[in-house]
Amino acid sequence: MDFELIGLSLPDAARHKAAVLVVLVADDFAAGDDALSGLIGQALRSEDFRTKAGTVLAAYRPAGLAATRLVLAGTGAGDGAGVQAGVQAALKIVRHGPAQELTLLLPDGADVAVTVMAAAEAAYVYRSTKTEHTQPPLPPEVTRISVAVADVDRASGDFDGAVAVAHGVALAREWANRPANHATPTRLAEAARKLVGYSSIRCKVLGPKAVARLGMGALQAVAAGSAEELRFIELRYDGGGSDDAPVVLVGKGITFDSGGISIKPAAAMDEMKFDMCGAASVLGVFRALAEARPAVNVVGLIASCENLPGAAAVKPGDVITGMSGQTIEVLNTDAEGRLVLSDALTYAQRFKPRAVIDIATLTGACVIALGGVRSGLFCTDDALADALLQAGEAAQDPCWRMPLDDAYAKDLRSHFADVANVAGRPAGAVTAAKFLQCFVADWPWAHFDIAGTAWKTGDAKGATGRPVRLLMQYLLDQADAAADTAPAGNAGGKRKTASGKDAAGRASGSTGR
Ligand code: BES
Ligand code: MN
Ligand code: ZN
Repeated sequence: MDFELIGLSLPDAARHKAAVLVVLVADDFAAGDDALSGLIGQALRSEDFRTKAGTVLAAYRPAGLAATRLVLAGTGAGDGAGVQAGVQAALKIVRHGPAQELTLLLPDGADVAVTVMAAAEAAYVYRSTKTEHTQPPLPPEVTRISVAVADVDRASGDFDGAVAVAHGVALAREWANRPANHATPTRLAEAARKLVGYSSIRCKVLGPKAVARLGMGALQAVAAGSAEELRFIELRYDGGGSDDAPVVLVGKGITFDSGGISIKPAAAMDEMKFDMCGAASVLGVFRALAEARPAVNVVGLIASCENLPGAAAVKPGDVITGMSGQTIEVLNTDAEGRLVLSDALTYAQRFKPRAVIDIATLTGACVIALGGVRSGLFCTDDALADALLQAGEAAQDPCWRMPLDDAYAKDLRSHFADVANVAGRPAGAVTAAKFLQCFVADWPWAHFDIAGTAWKTGDAKGATGRPVRLLMQYLLDQADAAADTAPAGNAGGKRKTASGKDAAGRASGSTGR
């Protein structure tokens, strides 16, 4: 999807040629004497249209307008939620028609980033395993959205950052939605390698032999039950100085989780193709980093395999040795995410990280605790936790901090190994996090349990791309903070940050986010 930012205000919009002109109208709308505001004023007076968020009115070839179609969309008070509702409602109408491009006209002061994110989210349609035979037919793809504002210079910083994040979210959703036989560990690694096409991105992919040499016995154990080869993926984005410690992101990439020998019930098992949403979010973040180019260093690690009950599968009671040297009693083969993550967290140590953040569809218990609204956040460091909580609020991708008291680790004790991979049913999301913590050294560590937020079930079934927005907000905030403290001439701070500021925090022709 292409986005462009154009300069256009309401009085000129009647002459603007577009397949669809979407006009966002807030409560404080004041009609001028141009053709379009006259029309909007009339529609409001006749009560055919209201400015309540999410209300829409559509017309085909309205008299006096150069656009083929006009959609008015109410945004209420014009705040983030209102704009989101208005854009969503407008896109719903547009998606049912033949138009492949549209112009979204924003009132003064409307949040450009919210508009871009909402439009991208609503315009996404999964296509990759659908054909021309599908019923009902898929609507034609929206290929271009022009965002129209009165003051392009003022909006451009926000706009560029939001487009980068929207592209990252779309990539995460796309890979997460693909079925397990299409999104194999091998294909995920290919998707990661493709990102090397962008400058500042490097990628290394390890297969079964290299993983064995590293002693990643936990990842190997989970992969053992499937004919599909495992992959361990290392991505690097170098936007900061060569001495800057990186933020390491670690994604759970179980491309299908049958439960293994501790097999899951059949109902809704198809949704376990989404068990690589953590990995998909790492790919999405790197796609966004490549475009936004903030001044930070980031490493992305993805531990990917299938969890199947094949002849060579790991069995309940088996004791395995991971890369850290600790032995693990696999009491339940369905607690596989924490196993593959344990080796990835051990591997993360080699980067002397500033922070390590893992992202995983880890526990059904987290779905029970927090549902689909907030992701679970577990964190050993208050400053990191606060930064992530704040980023989640700012990016409308919220999370909630959960506890990590050592008392929760009690039931992870094993009779036959250093640690067991499951405790009892109580606080299942917390005990999973406590297991992961066994493999964390003394850098600040955060763990996102996205089991409830990574995908939707029912009518809207599909991946959400969460928490790409949260993670990007955090990384962009980090770049901004570094730019604010860096001495002038600092090698790493010279690049433009995504908020449009240079190393010293000076605005470069645009405002901050
Ligand atoms: N991938 C699942 C977690 C999951 C379950 C995510 C349902 C979303 C919806 C994970 O690998 C798993 O199976 N966890 C087990 C752990 C248990 C065996 C301790 C769970 O949550 O039931
Ligand atoms: Mn499982
Ligand atoms: Zn799983």
